[in-house]
Amino acid sequence: MRTQVGIVGGGPAGLTLALLLERQGIECVVLESRSREYVERRVRAGLLEHNTVSLLHELGVGDRMGREGLRHGGIYLRRQCRTTHIPITKLTGRHITIYGQQEVVKDEIAAWCERGGALHFEVPDVAVGDLESDRPVIEFTLEGSHERLECDFIAGCDGFHGICRAALPDGLAVHYDYEYPFGWLGILADAAPATDELIYAWHERGFALYTMRSSTISRLYIQVPAGERLEKWSDARIWQELQIRLASEGWSVNEGPILEKGITPMRTFVCEPMQFGNLFLLGDAAHIVPPTGAKGLNLAVNDARLFAEALSSFYTSGSRSALDAFTETALRRVWRAQDFSNYMTQLLHDLGRGPFDRMLQLSRLDYLGQSTAAAHSLAENYAGLPAAPDF
Ligand code: APR
Ligand code: PHB
Repeated sequence: MRTQVGIVGGGPAGLTLALLLERQGIECVVLESRSREYVERRVRAGLLEHNTVSLLHELGVGDRMGREGLRHGGIYLRRQCRTTHIPITKLTGRHITIYGQQEVVKDEIAAWCERGGALHFEVPDVAVGDLESDRPVIEFTLEGSHERLECDFIAGCDGFHGICRAALPDGLAVHYDYEYPFGWLGILADAAPATDELIYAWHERGFALYTMRSSTISRLYIQVPAGERLEKWSDARIWQELQIRLASEGWSVNEGPILEKGITPMRTFVCEPMQFGNLFLLGDAAHIVPPTGAKGLNLAVNDARLFAEALSSFYTSGSRSALDAFTETALRRVWRAQDFSNYMTQLLHDLGRGPFDRMLQLSRLDYLGQSTAAAHSLAENYAGLPAAPDF
């Protein structure tokens, strides 16, 4: 078997790349270890930046998102029953859209299959090799038979726990890594959101976030200590904690049956370089941001855009310069998102550092309410800075 680009992983990075390459007439094959049902049901974050929404429309996969996605013009920051509105669209001219990651994945898979794209699910044992040659190889088992896929390039889009990053030679990459001493307990609830826009809440007991998936489904998160066991959190205890942390005068969180709950650790991670020979890492395979800035999916999509542009330049002009610069180009936006996500995390979470830090957080939250300059900086990072060929 032979293709131009072998893509390992059918998440947002891999699928967006496949659709971009198809538009450029570059052939590719996507290999995904899980089943289609599994990837289409996996509940993840759900906030799309302006750039991401535009790209999905350009790729012809934005129709349902346009109909069902919730377009927001701002966010609320809440502490001690006081709420500040950050009017993102008014400040930046850009908007944000709430649309679940698994909905993006469903739409991308449907479009890719409809366009006759090659995509294999339940491929359990992908291995990559000959990475420094001009014929890197992906080996795997498909319906019981061993396959060898020769490629020009391999895109490692297989998430944080995938195999591609591990294929970089020992000692080549620097890992910038930090694990926060807390995680997020997230629920999906059959309850109409009691807010028109997202609420990010600071509280002495820890951070809480009120977000949503539709006019009838809410998604909520609370900060919990690292390593917390889910069994310690009954549904009643989760709602009680959400009511306390999100409290505001004469208002409460709408409760309802909990459809899904889970705990995600909070970590921040960057692998540099994001490439070795003809293997390139995209999305979570190369970097993780804490979810407070809602950047994970958006960075994955941006990596796909930049890598597709670099490949297009290689196939049309024969020049490797954009490919060689991929790490540097992609990491520029990744580090901007790292800084913003860590800023949001440190602004809003109980960092366990005592009263002095709490007072600084409260002062920063006040400042965001008082100063348009401060609010503007938050808003342009939150909505995502405009896409550019080298950003
Ligand atoms: N072989 C093939 N596929 C694999 C392998 C493997 N060895 N290992 C993992 N995968 C698949 C996973 O099952 C998953 O579908 O790769 C895909 C990676 O997708 P994501 O984890 O969604 O990563 P990415 O596409 O980079 O998107 C980043 O996902 O984790 C969220 O918050 C993150 O929103 C961000 C987004
Ligand atoms: C979500 O809707 O799941 C979401 C939104 C904003 C965040 C994180 C998660 O910062």
